[in-house]
Amino acid sequence: MITRILVAEDEEIMRITVLDHLRNQGWQVDEATNGTEALALVKKNRYDLVISDIRMPGIDGEQLLAEVKLLAPRTEVILMTAHGNTDAAVHCLRKGAADYILKPFDLDDLTFRVQRLLNILAIKARCVSLESCCGQRHPLIGSSAPMQRLLSLISQVTQTDSTVLIHGESGTGKELVAAAIHYESRREDKPYIRVNCAAIPAGLMESELFGHEKGAFTGADQLSIGKFELADQGTILLDEVGDMPLALQVKLLRVLQEQEIERVGGKAPIKIDVRVLCATTKNLAEEVRKGTFREDLYYRLQVIPIVVPTLRERKDDIVELTNFFLEKFGEERGLTFTLTRDASQAIKNYPFPGNIRELRNILERMTVLAPAPEVQIWDLPIEIRGIKEETVEKGDVNLAAAVAAAERKCIREALVKTSGNKTEAAEMLGISRKNLWEKMKQYQT
Ligand SMILES: Nc1ncnc2c1ncn2[C@@H]1O[C@H](COP(=O)(O)OP(=O)(O)OP(=O)(O)O)[C@@H](O)[C@H]1O
Ligand SMILES: [Mg+2]
Repeated sequence: MITRILVAEDEEIMRITVLDHLRNQGWQVDEATNGTEALALVKKNRYDLVISDIRMPGIDGEQLLAEVKLLAPRTEVILMTAHGNTDAAVHCLRKGAADYILKPFDLDDLTFRVQRLLNILAIKARCVSLESCCGQRHPLIGSSAPMQRLLSLISQVTQTDSTVLIHGESGTGKELVAAAIHYESRREDKPYIRVNCAAIPAGLMESELFGHEKGAFTGADQLSIGKFELADQGTILLDEVGDMPLALQVKLLRVLQEQEIERVGGKAPIKIDVRVLCATTKNLAEEVRKGTFREDLYYRLQVIPIVVPTLRERKDDIVELTNFFLEKFGEERGLTFTLTRDASQAIKNYPFPGNIRELRNILERMTVLAPAPEVQIWDLPIEIRGIKEETVEKGDVNLAAAVAAAERKCIREALVKTSGNKTEAAEMLGISRKNLWEKMKQYQT
């Protein structure tokens, strides 16, 4: 995203010199000829940085700093001051200024300080995102038709700032879709914050989302910045938005319309620039009918609706996903896992009610517990093995085929019961280990 800076300086030559120099660095720079003008601009726009003279007629640099910290706490302030006024500058550092610079100064020194500050802001943004979304940044696997439609929709919405409502069954990858939208958008190097509305007690949600001032309520012994403010300039994911209490839904609607938030116990609204993504497993239209979700908010959220397909609707992706997870978990253990034909077939045939999360968990468990890197059918959980009765087809009276089917069934069951231990299975079946091995080869079990 483009860095936006405001320069407040009453002395014309100084102002123009600083402006030109900063603009030449590729930053978007606005100017204010005094503190009052600067304040009006801070109320209207969203700046990464305000560079202000300390001594100005009317509202001076110190007052401007205090207002900026109140109205736009994420905006940093660098103050400029003449030699001999260092005390005032140091005082401003205590009040929250990021830096000060003594006039006359070298323009390269100014660039250096601005760049250093912007680097720190970028690192902060990344840390905040990492904390909030650890592990949510891996590629979306799948090349089936429904997946291709999903990927193309994602790439379209990354071009905009519109609110997106992501709907899908549990474990289909809604969070991954949200992360993909953020990291492919122009906000990628700004914070990405995820809030799980289902996990926060209703009474604490307002303060969690919008923050609170010191003393706003019993126990609020210090100022707390809410998730929306943390996400400023970036993206917020309101996960399980269907679980948001009605009282807070009204406030969310206002935030979306006004692009400003108010901390609990706050004195003034704070301008924010946050892209909102929502995810839900609930059918929100149904919730609207039941009266548990506001209709106006529902329409405001689903400017762009995205439905994440279930794994059942994209069975073609199962193999690709399986290989992806086997490789990933194998890498962690320094092994290369492969599936036997039977094991792979059983996975493909399984309906996956828990979607990709279930597939992922099964494969992870398997790679930990499987005795060898070649995963056999009996290494799979019982519901996936799906061993069907090996029935003799109607009208088929071939004794050899019937015996073979029965033999195969018994062998598989013995192997399942002994978790693939051939010595124990052979014992259970009353045959030698060699005989079992030959029959397994014959029946491709
Ligand atoms: N297309 C995909 N490619 C690779 N991994 C995926 C894909 N979709 C989902 N996953 C993985 O599946 C798991 C579940 O995904 P995610 O948490 O995004 O689902 P969800 O829809 O948010 O589920 P819930 O509704 O339960 O919160 C995660 O481990 C995720 O990394
Ligand atoms: Mg989720």
